[in-house]
Amino acid sequence: MNITVIGSGYVGLVSGTCFAEMGNHVTCVDIDSVKIEKLNQGIIPIFEPGLETMVIKNVKNKNLFFTTKIGEALQNSEIVFIAVGTPMGDDGSADIQNVLAVAKAIGQTMQQRLIVVDKSTVPVGTADKVKATIQKELDALNSDLQFDVVSNPEFLKEGAAIADFMKPDRIVVGVESDYAKDKMRQLYHPFCMSRDKFIAMDVRSSEMTKYAANAMLATKISFMNEIANICEKVGADANQVRIGIGSDQRIGYNFIYPGAGYGGSCFPKDVKALTKIAKENGYTAQLITAVEVVNDAQKLVIAQKIVSRFGENLTGLTFGIWGLAFKPGTDDMREAPAIYVIKELVRRGAMIKAYDPKAMLEAKEHYLNGVQNITYVTSMYDVLKDSDALVLLTEWKEFRSPDFEEMKMQLKTSVIFDGRNQYNTFDVEAKGFEYYQIGKK
Ligand SMILES: NC(=O)c1ccc[n+]([C@@H]2O[C@H](COP(=O)([O-])OP(=O)(O)OC[C@H]3O[C@@H](n4cnc5c(N)ncnc54)[C@H](O)[C@@H]3O)[C@@H](O)[C@H]2O)c1
Repeated sequence: MNITVIGSGYVGLVSGTCFAEMGNHVTCVDIDSVKIEKLNQGIIPIFEPGLETMVIKNVKNKNLFFTTKIGEALQNSEIVFIAVGTPMGDDGSADIQNVLAVAKAIGQTMQQRLIVVDKSTVPVGTADKVKATIQKELDALNSDLQFDVVSNPEFLKEGAAIADFMKPDRIVVGVESDYAKDKMRQLYHPFCMSRDKFIAMDVRSSEMTKYAANAMLATKISFMNEIANICEKVGADANQVRIGIGSDQRIGYNFIYPGAGYGGSCFPKDVKALTKIAKENGYTAQLITAVEVVNDAQKLVIAQKIVSRFGENLTGLTFGIWGLAFKPGTDDMREAPAIYVIKELVRRGAMIKAYDPKAMLEAKEHYLNGVQNITYVTSMYDVLKDSDALVLLTEWKEFRSPDFEEMKMQLKTSVIFDGRNQYNTFDVEAKGFEYYQIGKK
């Protein structure tokens, strides 16, 4: 099939590349000409395991193309995906102006019957707005071209995006016509070889499914973090409690690891947007609001532990940071706990030495740009030299079995604050370290 994907970020680039991998002819479009220029030179603007090899292979096979021109891309396309960003607006709602700008451009440039698929995460009712926007442009051109608007939320996880897209748990598609349903089923058939994963439903339910899924996962995280905080107060060990409850099949082990709170491009904005959607429709989403409140506080729990150990004023102290990305396997720092912890330590006068395998450029250029007192070093052990304590904030594999002897030699005092999910904990007290974790006194 000929496909256009508009928006070549984490979701658009991965989706487009995976569709190309299945033999489709895909053109990825982006408004960012620097990004498109880089992609045309074989430079991948984001880090995602396995993506670079797959992009290069499909460009070489002439299955994958990049352009800034929507009209050119749409010339032979049967299906166009909208995968642009829907960032948090000032009032907490999802900002869909990029989606509607793309819809307008589609209406102005489409040349044959088209299925317009919304893959961006968008509030319920957005498909109707996309439809009206395209129709308005067609009417202005006196065009009677037919089109369908479909909702197809994306569930991939950054860091495992290729694997998730190639072997999805489910493919949710919100459709209004059998024509669109059949085409979407055909497109996704190669991703459903082991069993039928295609779930067709009405458009609004599909749009809502994405928010419900993310809100459920965020709820599990905040629930467990709250349990971990109570564990600390009562002298229980949250990790043992996790194992105790996870063994119940109705609860399960996934997403119940206590840690420094959820970050990333999706959970924070989607949880906030869902409370906003509910409010706009006359409902107060109390539980989902609380999920966000718990998470905001959780991001600072490690900083509070540091203050309890070293005092309110951290002037003259240096903290070594292992991990900046919001999770391992990505360079994405959007809403990463590291941003909040580092800013709080710096606000209290501390110096920071930081290392992350992939996210240092993002930190320097964007998320910690302008924050004073941070030095970035190129090896995890360089972080420790003359540092008063080590603070772990991302679960990168290379931090799992470090050289504790080396750590003891380098650190000024053998103190570790571990903000990672609890399955990554160290057994270091016997080695003479002071070790502080979330969910354990
Ligand atoms: N990142 C994830 O893990 C993930 C997972 C599931 C769903 N989503 C959702 O998918 C959507 C995209 O997320 P992302 O992380 O890929 O965002 P991103 O910021 O990485 O990429 C968005 C891209 O869209 C481009 N863009 C913006 N306006 C445009 C326009 N008018 N025309 C053409 N291109 C335009 C930007 O330049 C950018 O390259 C969001 O709605 C997000 O919530 C993201």
